Amino acid sequence: MTRILLVYYSQTGRTSRIARLICSAIGCDTERLEPLIPFSGSQSDIRKQITSNPHIPIRELVHDINQYGTVILGMPVWDNDIPPPMLSFINTTDWKGIKIHPFFTTGGVYVNVYSSLKEKCRGASLSAPLFLIFDNDGVLADVKE
Ligand SMILES: Cc1cc2nc3c(=O)[nH]c(=O)nc-3n(C[C@H](O)[C@H](O)[C@H](O)COP(=O)(O)O)c2cc1C
Repeated sequence: MTRILLVYYSQTGRTSRIARLICSAIGCDTERLEPLIPFSGSQSDIRKQITSNPHIPIRELVHDINQYGTVILGMPVWDNDIPPPMLSFINTTDWKGIKIHPFFTTGGVYVNVYSSLKEKCRGASLSAPLFLIFDNDGVLADVKE
């Protein structure tokens, strides 16, 4: 049986809610990415904390990704792209032969993020993305494939 690992990043809890749902539905292992220096504040505060250094240090993972054939990747969309903690994980992982099922939580602007993910996870095979669109009150308003 192929083991499944769900790796996600969540700043304000939306992605972690979806991750919990998926996990209780399929019973996979889970890994939440944590920056060593957490982001805080509003969107504009966070933008100021994102430096020009693309590598944000993250806590070492508990699970060994090489033990998994399938990885579910969940993340919020940040500036139409992958949030830096997830990018740090992606850039330090050998994706060869891994099947990725991506999902994104978003306020509705996400046109670039899937192609960016495909480009960065070299050697992986990516399934079609799932976009979970939240309104300003944090209510799940729509799901797009
Ligand atoms: C720095 C920053 C940039 C964001 N950029 C976008 C964006 O480009 N498009 C979008 O739809 N939402 C954007 N958002 C909103 C988040 O993607 C959205 O609220 C997401 O569901 C949050 O997930 P989380 O609660 O798991 O952190 C941004 C949020 C932050 C903090």
